[in-house]
Amino acid sequence: MRGFTEETATEIVLARLSECNDDRLRQVMTSIIRHLHTVVREVEPSEEEWLDAIQFLTATGQMCDDKRQEWILLSDTLGVSMLVDAITNRKPVGATESTVLGPFHVEGAPDLPHGANISVEGKGEPLVVSGRVLGPDEKPLEGAELDVWQANPEGYYDVQQPDVQPAMNLRGRFRTRANGKFQFRSVKPCSYPIPTDGPVGRLLSALGRHPHRPAHIHFIVSAEGFQPVTTHLFVAGDPYLESDAVFGVKKSLIVPFELETSDERATLLGVTAPFYSATYDFKLSEAD
Ligand code: BEZ
Ligand code: FE
Repeated sequence: MRGFTEETATEIVLARLSECNDDRLRQVMTSIIRHLHTVVREVEPSEEEWLDAIQFLTATGQMCDDKRQEWILLSDTLGVSMLVDAITNRKPVGATESTVLGPFHVEGAPDLPHGANISVEGKGEPLVVSGRVLGPDEKPLEGAELDVWQANPEGYYDVQQPDVQPAMNLRGRFRTRANGKFQFRSVKPCSYPIPTDGPVGRLLSALGRHPHRPAHIHFIVSAEGFQPVTTHLFVAGDPYLESDAVFGVKKSLIVPFELETSDERATLLGVTAPFYSATYDFKLSEAD
C-alpha cells in the first residue's frame, strides 16, 4: 500500500478514477483534482483558512434561489463566464461578438412592433436605438428577432424590483423588416453595481474591487439558419468600460449614444427633444 503523503496525494486520488466509464467526466475531474491540489501546495492554507473557504462556498450556495444565482455571479466576477463564452462562441471575423448573458434575462418578453417603447414606467432620458441585422455577406436579414432588456435609470432590472417597477419594464422582442432594419425606443441606460449583498460582494470588497458594470443594453439576436448571438451594446464614454466587474466589454460593442436636439427628428421618431440615439448593425454568422 502507498502511503498518502504530500508527494503521492494527487496520483493516489487520480488512481481512484480508473473505474469511471464516463470519459469526459474522468477528464474533467482529473483536471479539477490536479489543479486543486496544485493550489493547496502553492498556498498551503491553514485548516482555519480552508474552513473559511468552505464557509464562503456554503454561503454562495445558500444565497441562491429562483431569482438569485450567486454561483453565476462568482463565475462572472472571476472572469470564468467570459472565458467559457470566448471558447464556446468563437466567431468568424466580422460577426458580432458575444458577451455574458447575465442573470436578468427573462423568457417571454412581449413581442413589440417596430419603433415601440420598452420603457413601461417612462422614467429617464429618451433614447432611440436602431440598426440592421445582417448575414455574413452583409445581406439584410428580414424577420430576425432581437430580444432586448436593460436596467432602469436607477440601475435595477424589473425582476430586482417587482414591487417598484411594472413587470416587463424595459424588455421587448422585435423583428427586423425586409431591409433588415429594427428600431425601438427606450431610456438611456446607466452603469450599475452587480448585487453586493452576498458573499461575492464581500469578496469583491475584500479584494479592493468595485462591483460596477458600464451602462449597456442586452440583446439576443437570432435568425433562422444563423448562429444566434448573446451580446450587449455599451455606452461609449462610460467610466467603467475599462474595469467592468464581470469582464464583459469588447471594443466592437462600444457605441456612441449621441445627444440630439432637433424637434423635427424627435417628432419623426416618436420622442421629445433632447433625446439620445444609438445605431448598430448586428452581423450573424451562418449556422454550422
Ligand atoms: C448583467 O449585465 O445584467 C449582469 C451580468 C453579470 C452579472 C450581473 C449582472
Ligand atoms: Fe445588465
